Amino acid sequence: FTVDMDPSAADKGAYPFYMLKEIDEQPAVMRKLVQKYFDGDQPEIDNNLLKDMNDADHIYIIGAGTSYHAGLIGARMFEKLTGTPTTVHISSEFAYEQPLLSKKPFFIFLSQSGETADSREVLVHVNENKWPSLTITNVDKSTLSREATYTLLLYAGPEIAVASTKAYTAQIAVEAILAKALGEYKNISAAAEFDLKQQLGTIANGMQAITDSKDTLEAVATHYLSKPRNAFYIGRGIDWSVSLEAALKLKEISYVQAEGFASGELKHGTIALIEKGTPVIGIITQDRTAGLTRSNLEETESRGANTLTIVSRHLAKEDDTIVIPDVDELLTPLLSVVPAQLLAYYTSLGKGLDVDKPRNLAKSVTVQ
Ligand code: G6P
Repeated sequence: FTVDMDPSAADKGAYPFYMLKEIDEQPAVMRKLVQKYFDGDQPEIDNNLLKDMNDADHIYIIGAGTSYHAGLIGARMFEKLTGTPTTVHISSEFAYEQPLLSKKPFFIFLSQSGETADSREVLVHVNENKWPSLTITNVDKSTLSREATYTLLLYAGPEIAVASTKAYTAQIAVEAILAKALGEYKNISAAAEFDLKQQLGTIANGMQAITDSKDTLEAVATHYLSKPRNAFYIGRGIDWSVSLEAALKLKEISYVQAEGFASGELKHGTIALIEKGTPVIGIITQDRTAGLTRSNLEETESRGANTLTIVSRHLAKEDDTIVIPDVDELLTPLLSVVPAQLLAYYTSLGKGLDVDKPRNLAKSVTVQ
């Protein structure tokens, strides 16, 4: 008598794919991070790490793929909450064309697996120069964790699906916690006033509400995204950074040729690609740029695009497609990315593809 079953399937529980399970786990990961990193309302971070970061005149964030995208969000947080200039770099670029560095650099390596060869290549060079570094990773004792000066863990639990979801949101949350802690260490008032613990609670509930509306997202995916060859996510500022991640999710698992664009840049070339029925999804969470992105969406609509929106509640209008709860403007990516993850999931599912194991991709890339 033999039972023919995939041993890992047990962990999926009732879920058809790990990706859906991992999307659904995001509220719990947010709550776990609050538990792990807060003492009362204050973030608790190793004082030596804060001291080394305080001594630095520039923070360099290094990552690949989704981790690079999480870095784009983190850089804004470090600049706004700590006043330290921060830039984000794709590891495979930085490794071979290093920019002119500041006098006292501090390096943050973002890596779900802690094993990405391109990122390690940069870390080896950082260590040769004895610069201080931090790895933010989901895997304790991974190579990048062992070789960096400091480690902060993501506590997201194993991420099995190739398309990264809960690691991205956990990376953003840990960056926010670290930025607040460093900002407070530096006596920056914006950091002291940032009610991060409460916000993370609101975000956990908001993520839950979004994952509870799967039927709507499945219907949107089936109707608008399953047929076209191309799709665009657009936004400005932090919404543009999320657009890049949203487009990556869609392309990697559903094979729709998706791109994320700065919405003001469309008219300088990309708008030529818009045809009848091309889906253009606007991410709108920032007061200062909401009106501008809406105008850019209209420009694509008048050229035949099917326009959709992911919008923060206080900016929402009657015809918006997906309305997400309001949170601090620096933290909106934690919510705006979730509908995009689900749209990618349902587009892939609807096409009958292997959501967890897309063609040509690996979960952890250990070659350069
Ligand atoms: C691979 C994975 C991506 C991931 C990237 C970086 O390409 O498919 O999902 O974002 O590697 O991986 P890391 O483990 O360094 O975050």
